[in-house]
Amino acid sequence: MEIKLSPSILSADFANLARDIKIATDAGAEYVHVDVMDGHFVPNLTIGAPVVKSLRAATDHVLDVHLMISNPDQYLDDFIDAGADIITVHCESNGDTLAQLKKIRAAGKKASCTIKPNTPAEVLFPLLPYCDMVLIMTVEPGFGGQGFIPACMDKIKAVRAEIQKHGYACELEIDGGAKLANTAEIVAAGADVIVAGSAVFSGDIAENVKEFHKVFAAGAQQAEWTK
Ligand code: DX5
Ligand code: ZN
Repeated sequence: MEIKLSPSILSADFANLARDIKIATDAGAEYVHVDVMDGHFVPNLTIGAPVVKSLRAATDHVLDVHLMISNPDQYLDDFIDAGADIITVHCESNGDTLAQLKKIRAAGKKASCTIKPNTPAEVLFPLLPYCDMVLIMTVEPGFGGQGFIPACMDKIKAVRAEIQKHGYACELEIDGGAKLANTAEIVAAGADVIVAGSAVFSGDIAENVKEFHKVFAAGAQQAEWTK
């Protein structure tokens, strides 16, 4: 079972995104997590589709685009055309999440949906057959560098159990507060894609990526669901 790292460029140097992404992916990061915030769904503003388009030209790695925006229906085409590989929509955003997932897949992209910490895991269950990935937010979306919310551990376990029960081909990503110290436990609980922003892009980026992969191996050994 391969556990993947998706470094969140929210904590990278925005004036040097291509450089920081290259350092992380050369060191073994599998995905590149791109946090899109509209200042309305979350109280922060980041980047839009034009930046994703530029990143597409700068890397061949998987662009894992997390849309924290109120109106995905208004912008999905832009992110599809910009070259996103995985597009994650929030169940709390406006519009029909199932229709959004179907649209993403119909465009040949990987579809994913996510819930905020206070939304119950069961909201995701009927959507899982339409998802290539599902994302569990483990902090309130909006900012990097927050602490992992401990209550989210049970949510990871519940969604992993549902995926295994039905044999869905759906990756389980977590986002927020992943550090070297808690990631083995997060993997053991059921996550197979780990987003990490501040823990990757502070200090030695390449070294941090390598250390995360060591922790993944330890977590996978403890994980019942990987056996
Ligand atoms: C938060 C973002 C996360 C964030 C994670 O809204 O979705 O991707 O950058 O940052 P860390 O790993 O620092 O918690
Ligand atoms: Zn994110």
